[in-house]
Amino acid sequence: MLNKVKVAILISGRGSNMQKLIEACENPDFPAEIIVVGSNNLNALGLEYAKSKSIKTFVLDHKNFSNYQNSREEFDKALHQEITKHNVEIICLAGFMRLLSKWFVDKWHNKIINIHPSLLPDFKGANAVEDALKAGAKISGCTTHFVSLEMDAGPIIMQSQVLIDKNDDKDILSQKILAQEHEIYPLTLKKVCTKILEN
Ligand code: GRF
Repeated sequence: MLNKVKVAILISGRGSNMQKLIEACENPDFPAEIIVVGSNNLNALGLEYAKSKSIKTFVLDHKNFSNYQNSREEFDKALHQEITKHNVEIICLAGFMRLLSKWFVDKWHNKIINIHPSLLPDFKGANAVEDALKAGAKISGCTTHFVSLEMDAGPIIMQSQVLIDKNDDKDILSQKILAQEHEIYPLTLKKVCTKILEN
């Protein structure tokens, strides 16, 4: 049987990118397997889908860490503990709405992948689609990248362009970009895992 890289996916919400990654991994020739899906939000819709595919899930509510002096790092240490239970090699962030601490990013250097709804380095941050529209951009898209300490700034893996029509509003453009995200995230995971298996 093909050797596969063990992957964790972290989500906070709907999890449509997670779903595409899970679907891609169902192909016996795909070089990755999703071992566990984690969320900081008990009500993340994507958790149900992962469970329906018999993938292990866990929830770590960040609010339970608010009393710690260094709450972000304490949360990340608990996250690391959960993930390492499963011999995970790569982490995919798929709408995971948490900034990761230096401690965590250092531990998982070049092993965390994120997807962002703009052509980075343009329009970093949480309002990328609105910002592209406000700026009057004619082209936007999505980017997969390795996670570094600076938000939305790590080495780029893949990008896909989307043309912005003058009638596009936030919902329309988000949908157009999301359709491209669903294409490039599985391709990105395949590229990264193929390289890992070659080494
Ligand atoms: C996507 O737009 C992704 O680019 C951003 O968060 C959104 C997640 O959507 N990081 P989903 O939960 O994968 O549907």
